[in-house]
Amino acid sequence: DETSAAVMKDEQLLSNIVATQDIHHQFGGVVPELASRAHINLIVPIVRKALEKAAVNMGDIDGVAVTYGPGLVGSLLVGLNFAKAISYKYNIPFIGINHIEGHIWANFIDTDEPQPPFLALIISGGHTQLVCVKEWGQYRTIGKTMDDAAGEAFDKVAKMMELGYPGGPIIDKMARNASANAIRFPRAMMTDENFDFSFSGLKTAVLYHLKKIGEEATKENQEDIVASFQAALCDVLVEKTIRAAEHLNVTSIVLAGGVACNSMIRQQMTERAEAHQLKAYLPGPGFCTDNAAMIARAGHFYLGQKKQASYTLSPKPSLKL
Ligand code: KG4
Ligand code: ZN
Repeated sequence: DETSAAVMKDEQLLSNIVATQDIHHQFGGVVPELASRAHINLIVPIVRKALEKAAVNMGDIDGVAVTYGPGLVGSLLVGLNFAKAISYKYNIPFIGINHIEGHIWANFIDTDEPQPPFLALIISGGHTQLVCVKEWGQYRTIGKTMDDAAGEAFDKVAKMMELGYPGGPIIDKMARNASANAIRFPRAMMTDENFDFSFSGLKTAVLYHLKKIGEEATKENQEDIVASFQAALCDVLVEKTIRAAEHLNVTSIVLAGGVACNSMIRQQMTERAEAHQLKAYLPGPGFCTDNAAMIARAGHFYLGQKKQASYTLSPKPSLKL
């Protein structure tokens, strides 16, 4: 539900325009057909704005990168075809980027720290996975969610408590001055000898709790409830990430994806990493949630490697990393 365009020169970001489609808010989630239509309307003005802000013309551009998956097929089609048209018209390389890989690159805008090998924790609305980045372009997933993604859990809990969409930022804000120990929600798979996650039980536990205490008590205690939910999710994410980093014998942890905006996760990951002689890297503001800068950054890398996609590249809705 974001239409975005960015211009990058070397590794320096010149512009990054992100338009969030508000149309979906009234439905409590993204409506695929409305998203495609909004992309069609927005893509030309957003690309123009990105060029304008960067003070460059289309003729100055050396390559065009676009995400081809995972995601909604209708949305991917709009971006892909637009990028192919630009590439053809201006005779410049066309590069297809995996959206999940893009999230990792969000950490490397205007910086090249840390160098691989490192561990990446990708926590977005659709994905939750721990990835070992041995070298740029070489990814090995060592753990993932068995059911809901972390962002999905935030959005679903917010939906059942009628707090609004997307749930993550709303819960993050509500939880700031509340008691995270008010309710002890389950920490699924925390002690398991693997790096996988499960969040659907946590979501159900919140639902049962709401049913048990009733509507009135829910309204009165909603801050404590969401803070306790957030703490349960955060504990598992941080604990398993630290363990995975130690298992892989890497010293750097890179966070990525919309949920990496979460203030509790940012703070706990930083503190716990330090306590284990590890260092946690967090994407700068605006680069956690979906944006074109991260796709441009990945594109810049592959352009340097002289990797190009063919015009037959089609959307891959369930592309894996
Ligand atoms: O990476 P992203 O923008 O889109 C996907 O690729 O999915 O992530 C969106 C997700 C949503 O589920 C949203 O609720 C969550 O990121 N999110 C947050 C916060 N900001 C966004 N979750 C927790 N705390 C936040 N501050
Ligand atoms: Zn994303």
